[in-house]
Amino acid sequence: MRIILCGFGVVGQSLVKLLDSRSEDLYARFGLKPRIVGVTDRKGSAQESSGLDLSRLIEVKKKFGSVKKYGNGKNKQTGLDLINNLDADVLVETTTSNYKDAEPGMSHITSAMKQGLHVISVNKGPLALAFPSLMELATYNQVLLKFSGTVGGGTPILDYAKNSLRGERISSFAGILNGTTNYILTNMANGMTFESALQDAKKKGYVEEDESLDLDGLDAAAKLVILANWIMDFKVTLPDIKRIGIRKVTTSDIQKASKNNCALKLIASCNKDLIVSPKEISLNDPLCVNGTLNAISFTSEHSGTQTIIGRGAGGIETASSILRDLLDIRQEISKN
Ligand code: HSE
Repeated sequence: MRIILCGFGVVGQSLVKLLDSRSEDLYARFGLKPRIVGVTDRKGSAQESSGLDLSRLIEVKKKFGSVKKYGNGKNKQTGLDLINNLDADVLVETTTSNYKDAEPGMSHITSAMKQGLHVISVNKGPLALAFPSLMELATYNQVLLKFSGTVGGGTPILDYAKNSLRGERISSFAGILNGTTNYILTNMANGMTFESALQDAKKKGYVEEDESLDLDGLDAAAKLVILANWIMDFKVTLPDIKRIGIRKVTTSDIQKASKNNCALKLIASCNKDLIVSPKEISLNDPLCVNGTLNAISFTSEHSGTQTIIGRGAGGIETASSILRDLLDIRQEISKN
C-alpha cells in the first residue's frame, strides 16, 4: 500500500515509528505492507516511489527539523505536488487543523479523492467545515474517507457508536471531547485560578499552538460536527454549533458546582441542539472524568446509556487510530 503523508509533526512521526516497528507483524497478521512514497512538512518534502526508509526519515527529521534533508533529489514539493504526481493508494492528512478555510488540508483531501486515492484525515478542519460535501465527494469518486483519529485520539469513539451500536437508535450523546480544557477545569477544581491552570497546561504541552481552539471550544465543536454527521446522519458544519468556551469560567462557578456535588466540564452535546458549553456534571456520573481524559455517553433506544472513556490525544494514540483506518482500507481493497 503506497501512502503519501502530508504533515510530519508529532502524529506523522508517531505513525512512521509505528509502521517501522510493526512492519513484520503487520504483514504477517494483516498482509499490510505500507510504503510511504512521499512526505511533506512545513519546510519541504521527501519522496521515493519504492518507499522511503522509515528510520532514516525519523533520523533526518530529528537532526535537521525537516524531511527535506532526506536527500534524494526533489525536496521542495508541496503536498499537492506529491498528490498530483506520485502513484499512491492512500493520503494520510495530518497537517494542523484550521477552522477558517481548512487549508492546506482541504485541498489535499479533495485533490487526493479526485485522483482516486483513499484518504485518512486526522485533521479536523476540513471535516468540521465541509463534512457532508466531503463524504459526497468520496462516494462520487468511489474512495474511502476515514477519520477515526479526529475524535478521541486512540479511543475508538466513532467506531463504537457506528459499529458496536449498529442497529440501535442513538437518541442523544454528551461528552468531554477536549482534554486540555478538562485538564484546566480539573486544576481549577483543585484550587488553581484559570490563569495558573492555563499556564500549567501550556507548560505540559497540552494547549494547541492557537490556544483559542481549546479555550473557545472550537476543537470540541469540530469533534461534535464529526460525531453528529457520522453517527446521527445530521448534515451540519461548524457554524451550526452553539459554542461557549471556558474563558469566562470563574473560581466561584467551580465552587458552586462543587457545592452541588458536581464538577464543571466543557460538554459537547447532541440532543435537539448541538451545543458546546461548560456544564455541571454530577461527580457520580461516569462522564465526570478528570485530567486530560475524554469521555462520551451515548444514550440509545434499547441499550440505555453507555460511557466510553480514554485518552483523547497523543501522538502514538492517534497513530494507532490511523493504523486502524489503514487496515480497514486494506480490507476494502482486498474485497474489491
Ligand atoms: N487539543 C486537543 C485536546 C487535542 O486537548 O483534546 C486533541 O484533538
